[in-house]
Amino acid sequence: MGIQEPYPLDVEAVRADFPILERKVGGDVTVPGEGEGDTTPLVYLDNAATSHTPEQVVGAIADYYRSYNSNVHRGIHQLSQEASTAYEHAHDRVAEFVGAEGREEVVFTKNTTEAENLVAYAWGLNELGPEDNVVLTEMEHHASLVTWQQIGKKTGADVRFVRVDDDGRLDMDHARELVDDDTAMANVVHVSNTLGTVNPVAEFADLVHDHDGLIFVDGAQSVPHMPVDVQAIDADFFAFSGHKMCGPTGIGVLYGKQHLLEEMQPYLYGGEMIRKVTFEDSEWEDLPWKFEAGTPVIAQGIALHAAIDYLEDLGMENVHAHEQLLAEYAYDELTAYDDVDIYGPPGDDRAGLVAFNVDGVHAHDLSSILNDHGVAVRAGDHCTQPLHDKLGVPASARASFYIYNTREEIDELVEAVDDARQLFA
Ligand code: ALA
Repeated sequence: MGIQEPYPLDVEAVRADFPILERKVGGDVTVPGEGEGDTTPLVYLDNAATSHTPEQVVGAIADYYRSYNSNVHRGIHQLSQEASTAYEHAHDRVAEFVGAEGREEVVFTKNTTEAENLVAYAWGLNELGPEDNVVLTEMEHHASLVTWQQIGKKTGADVRFVRVDDDGRLDMDHARELVDDDTAMANVVHVSNTLGTVNPVAEFADLVHDHDGLIFVDGAQSVPHMPVDVQAIDADFFAFSGHKMCGPTGIGVLYGKQHLLEEMQPYLYGGEMIRKVTFEDSEWEDLPWKFEAGTPVIAQGIALHAAIDYLEDLGMENVHAHEQLLAEYAYDELTAYDDVDIYGPPGDDRAGLVAFNVDGVHAHDLSSILNDHGVAVRAGDHCTQPLHDKLGVPASARASFYIYNTREEIDELVEAVDDARQLFA
C-alpha cells in the first residue's frame, strides 16, 4: 500500500507489526482466518470495538505460555515466582501509564464493564440509598448506564442524566443543575464511543467534588488514544480495557484511589483475595489482590504490559495526533455528501471515530455494502441505545481509527459509502 506522508507516526513501520492488516476478506465466514474465497483487501475501521494486536504483544503472550506459564502467588517453584513477578510488574506498568500512585490502585478485571460493576456492587450497593442521586450523561455506554440504572433500582437512588446538546457536547449548565449535595456518584464517559466527543472530565470532577461526591470516569475510548493522567483529572475511579489498546481481550483495568479501595468490601470472594480464613470468618488480602479473586488474568495482564510498552514507544501524543488527522479527514470527506449525517462535534474537535448514516439506507445495509468493499465498521447502536433514540435513529455506522490507519483507507471508506448512496438512490 502506498502511504501518503506526512503522518505523526511511521505508519508503514507500524503496519508491519500487524500481519492481520495484510489479510483479505470476502469469503466463507464460517472458516476463521484467510481462506480461498478471500480476495478483497481488508480495511479495518472498527478499532473502537477492538484494536489489533502487534507482534510484540502476541510474542509476550507466546513467551509466557512457552517459558513461564504458571499460577501466581501460589507456588514457591521458580515458574510461579517468575509469573508472579511479571504479573505484579504489569500492575506497576499500568499505574505508571495512567499516573496512579502505585499498583495498590490498579485492579485487573475482565473489561471496562466488569470494572463498572465492581464499583457499582462493592461501593454502590453499600453506600447508596433513596436520599442519594447518581449523575450520568446521555452519552454513557450501556456498561455504565445499565449498571447504575439497576443499582439505582436496588438502592432507591435517583439516577439522572446530563443533556447532550445539538453539537454532541455535554451541557455543563445542566450538569451544574443536576449535581447537588445529594450526588454520591457521577459516572462520565471520557470520550463518547458514538459521538467522538472528548468530555471535560476534570471540570466535571471539580463540580462533583465541590458537592463531596465521587466521580467514575469511563476511559475505554480515551486511554488507548491519548495521554491520560488520572490524578490530573482527579478521578476517584477510572476504567479501561486492554483489547482496545493493542492488548488482548479478557483484561480491563479499574483504577481507584487507594483510600476508597481500602474502604470498599470485595466484589468477588474466593482464593487469592484472602489473607486468613477460618470456618467462621475471613480477612482480605492487601490491595489490589483483595479485588482479584480466583486465578486472575495472568497472560492478559502480562500482554497488557507489552501493549503499553508498544504504545509508549510510539508516543501517546503521536498516537493522538495521528488519529486526529484521520478523524478530521474522514469528517471532511463524508460531510461533502448532503445525504450523509454525522453525529457529534466537528472534525477538528473530536476523537478518532465518526458515526454516521446515509439518508434512506439502514446502517446495517450500509455496513454490509462496506463489508463487500472489505471495509470493516461497526453498525448498530454501539451500546448507546438511549443516545440513538435521542438522535432519532435506530442505529448508525461507525468508522473508528487507530495507529495503523491511513488516508487511503478513508478514501476506500468514502468510495464504499458513495457506492451505497448510489445503490439506494
Ligand atoms: N464498547 C465497544 C464499542 O463501542 C465494544 O464498540
